[in-house]
Amino acid sequence: MSLFARLTARAKNNPRRIVLPEGDEARNLTAADQILHDGVAEILLLGNPDAIHAKAKELNLKCIDKATIVDPADPVVLDKYAPLLYELRKKKGMTPEEARVKAADILYLGALMVKAGDADGMVSGAVHSTGDVLRAAFQVIKTAPGISTVSGAFLMLLPTDSPYGENGLMVFADCAVVPDPDAEQLAQIAVCTAETARVVAGIEPRVAILSFSTKGSAKHERVDKVIEAARIAHEMAPDLKIDGELQADAAIVPTVAALKAPQSEIAGKADVLVFPSLEVGNIAYKLVQRFGGVQAIGPLLQGLAAPVSDLSRGCSASDIYNTIVMTANQAIK
Ligand code: ACO
Repeated sequence: MSLFARLTARAKNNPRRIVLPEGDEARNLTAADQILHDGVAEILLLGNPDAIHAKAKELNLKCIDKATIVDPADPVVLDKYAPLLYELRKKKGMTPEEARVKAADILYLGALMVKAGDADGMVSGAVHSTGDVLRAAFQVIKTAPGISTVSGAFLMLLPTDSPYGENGLMVFADCAVVPDPDAEQLAQIAVCTAETARVVAGIEPRVAILSFSTKGSAKHERVDKVIEAARIAHEMAPDLKIDGELQADAAIVPTVAALKAPQSEIAGKADVLVFPSLEVGNIAYKLVQRFGGVQAIGPLLQGLAAPVSDLSRGCSASDIYNTIVMTANQAIK
């Protein structure tokens, strides 16, 4: 069974409530309609109900009546969610009046619905920028217990006969969020990515924290950061199979691992690659995707108290459908 077939079946068996803040937008509506038709998740659409119904009619969508529509301009809705936003942000100087204005912002309203337990996850970003989606999630949903850094992972779907990864799957992070993580943040990224690998990719994580050095072959403060990150990650998750610092070849090629890191349990077998900075992670996943003919799925945000997924503004309805499937899976404990 393909990864998507497995994840779709899992979502159908454990229906989760996913809020789509950009609920009146054509691609979101088309994806929502198909999700509802297939019974993959419950859908909450934010927007003006009349505008949503009119657009659904124009698109000839048949299942939108099964969605719950929440109007951000409805005073009853704002009466419910604005006080929650005020509580969350008053220490940062937000006034009740500002909270009421902000709660009507669809990204904040979606995040507030997740925070209040009225939705299990949120998918947005077909219209809004990554920064806007992330900021609403950070400020309202906040991080999971024991985690202070949110990061973004990509599932890399390699050719099925690839010698790398597990069953043709690898997970890369951080490729989307933290520009220059320190050792503590890098450790958190490693631990969260292992969890994403286990829960979403369904693989046994073997985590390599990458560097330009393998086991002391180079000396530099950036190498020291990776060594420290591996130490902290071990402390955070003693049972996790994790090693660093490793070069990319030592991490994934058994013959190179045998030469450069013969004592390592991970070297040569890594299926989770953690990059030392966002520059490396973002460039690496795009090069692997293009040069290797590899499908890259993400970014899957990890480390939040509840799942939020950021779409690319160039996404299609089918990308949104797939992202809803992923997000629903992240919401299944
Ligand atoms: N994890 C958890 N919380 C965070 C994180 C994080 N990684 N980053 C910021 N926050 C919190 C802050 O603590 C702050 O909370 P507070 O308001 O309660 O104090 C809030 O979020 C806003 O923090 P700022 O520092 O003001 O964040 P800013 O708005 O400047 O930037 C952002 C955050 C947008 C994520 C920034 O780090 C960024 O732009 N990252 C790169 C994103 C990007 O462009 N990625 C590449 C494209 S994606 C792709 O190609 C797949």
